[in-house]
Amino acid sequence: MVSFCRHQQPPLSHPTTTTRWWSKDSVAIVTGANKGIGYALVKRFAELGLTVVLTARDQSRGLQAMDSLKVLGVDHHVRFCQLDISDPVSIRSFVSWFRSSFKAFDILVNNAAVCFNAMNENSMEYAETVIKTNYYGSKQFTEAMLPFFRRSSSMSRILNISSRLGTLDKLNNPKMKAILGDKETLSEGRIDMVVNAFLEDVKEGRWNTQGWPEIWTDYSVAKLALNAYSQVLARRYEGVVSVNCFCPGFTQTTMTDGNGKHSADDAAKMAAKIALLPVPVLNTGKFYVGSTSRGICSKL
Ligand SMILES: NC(=O)c1ccc[n+]([C@@H]2O[C@H](COP(=O)([O-])OP(=O)(O)OC[C@H]3O[C@@H](n4cnc5c(N)ncnc54)[C@H](OP(=O)(O)O)[C@@H]3O)[C@@H](O)[C@H]2O)c1
Repeated sequence: MVSFCRHQQPPLSHPTTTTRWWSKDSVAIVTGANKGIGYALVKRFAELGLTVVLTARDQSRGLQAMDSLKVLGVDHHVRFCQLDISDPVSIRSFVSWFRSSFKAFDILVNNAAVCFNAMNENSMEYAETVIKTNYYGSKQFTEAMLPFFRRSSSMSRILNISSRLGTLDKLNNPKMKAILGDKETLSEGRIDMVVNAFLEDVKEGRWNTQGWPEIWTDYSVAKLALNAYSQVLARRYEGVVSVNCFCPGFTQTTMTDGNGKHSADDAAKMAAKIALLPVPVLNTGKFYVGSTSRGICSKL
């Protein structure tokens, strides 16, 4: 069931044939799609009739995912290419494969992410890897793919799979909050300043006294940065590419040790709905949160 939060516009009706702007020639790319929400989203896009590029950092895990789509009979318009978003060489080789296989694409879903903490842990042992993958990886892959966005009346779309753990209200450092909260002056350089300040605090062993988010701190800072970067992109490409974030809510995947309020398929249905919004109700610069009981709403 789709419902909407108080004070929010209700743009998210189910796509129907009359609102369907895409065809099998529309191309969607999903990162980190060998399992979890990414895999479920590839399956959903394929069921809805788009051409989908399933990417995975590990070739064999990606091919296994392709096999399971085949078993389900939804692999006809799904292609696979290896992609590790934290590895510039892998990004370059993806770009070169993409250029020789497709002219353009319509939807990029930055889904890939890592978290090295179990549910109740908060170690910063892998903070650099988390930032490098979840923020810089998604950013670098997006930049590499920008030249291939289709210029069309249906608008190209970027959907960054984020988390409400990384919303501004979780940040209690006034200086950092002021930097990320000022939409007028927000820039990639200023976002990097925040990220570097966090990594410096980790290095100096003072990260837990500086007002950084309290849960899964490294992961949350990476999502804060991704959300802010989405704002910068949304403003820069207004009218050309729609850029939104989506928090799928507590979802049963490896990242949550299988805990969660709903399945990856449920989360993928919500993500697909946002990625495929018909043009008249397509927004940009929004942060959508999803819940199977409360529906999808925009927090911005
Ligand atoms: N589950 C939740 O409750 C929840 C809540 C809010 C937001 N999210 C977000 O939802 C997205 C999907 O998470 P999930 O729950 O589906 O987690 P997941 O099951 O752990 O899947 C993460 C995916 O990202 C891939 N990945 C990791 N590092 C990568 C890299 N460097 N390059 C390419 N792919 C990489 C993983 O590949 P491997 O299999 O090779 O590791 C895996 O395919 C993430 O952005 C996460 O932050 C999840």
